[in-house]
Amino acid sequence: MSEKQIFPFIEQRIENYCQTYVSKEDDSLSELNEKTKELFIHPHMISGNWQGTLLSLISNLVKPKYILELGTFSGYSALCLVKGLAPDGKLHTIEWKEEYEEFLLNLFKENKVEDKIQLHIGKALDIIPTIEEEFDIVFIDADKANYPAYYDLCIEKLRKGGLMIADNVLWYGKIALEPMPKDKQTVGIHSFNQKITEDPRMENLIIPLRDGLMIGRKI
Ligand SMILES: C[S@@+](CC[C@H](N)C(=O)[O-])C[C@H]1O[C@@H](n2cnc3c(N)ncnc32)[C@H](O)[C@@H]1O
Repeated sequence: MSEKQIFPFIEQRIENYCQTYVSKEDDSLSELNEKTKELFIHPHMISGNWQGTLLSLISNLVKPKYILELGTFSGYSALCLVKGLAPDGKLHTIEWKEEYEEFLLNLFKENKVEDKIQLHIGKALDIIPTIEEEFDIVFIDADKANYPAYYDLCIEKLRKGGLMIADNVLWYGKIALEPMPKDKQTVGIHSFNQKITEDPRMENLIIPLRDGLMIGRKI
């Protein structure tokens, strides 16, 4: 069942129903969820089972060789995305908080995915240009003000037919307020939503799941 509703885009009873009829969370992910609540500030940033199931479902459909994730946090979405990775594939995930490094490396070892996930500690804008892969899936979930810059860097590294997924594109509903708030996060996300929609190379839509997921395919 749903926990306290933080992203109120759909009625609570509909969300409860959706959160009931979703595949059961793996024991390892549910343990990670608990640990995140204990050890991390802002634990609501975790993808969680509802969104995580969509990420692993997409990854299993695409069977990506290379995945890029911006914003690792406690590693939940990385563990979901890695599930569909091709046997010789690699997930690159970027997190700027050095203090998460030890936790994440242990987590990946415990889940026996340490050979499949490469953690980069540093600012996403600095690290993206240094990774020389063509990606099948890019998942954008780091600082919101930089979403437009992430779009420009990542679209060049996404293969034709590859998917770009971005979290929090409804930004707690602020994105649709009139007038739209002028804080840099809201402005950044709105500009990202405009960019991807106006780019003729992309076919895209927003799914109003949790805080809104943008999903786009490079045509
Ligand atoms: C919403 S959380 C990611 C949640 C995670 N993807 C999940 O679904 O479980 C965003 C993360 O991005 C990190 N972050 C923020 N700015 C960043 C930057 N410029 N470069 C890399 N990571 C950044 C934050 O420290 C935080 O851990």
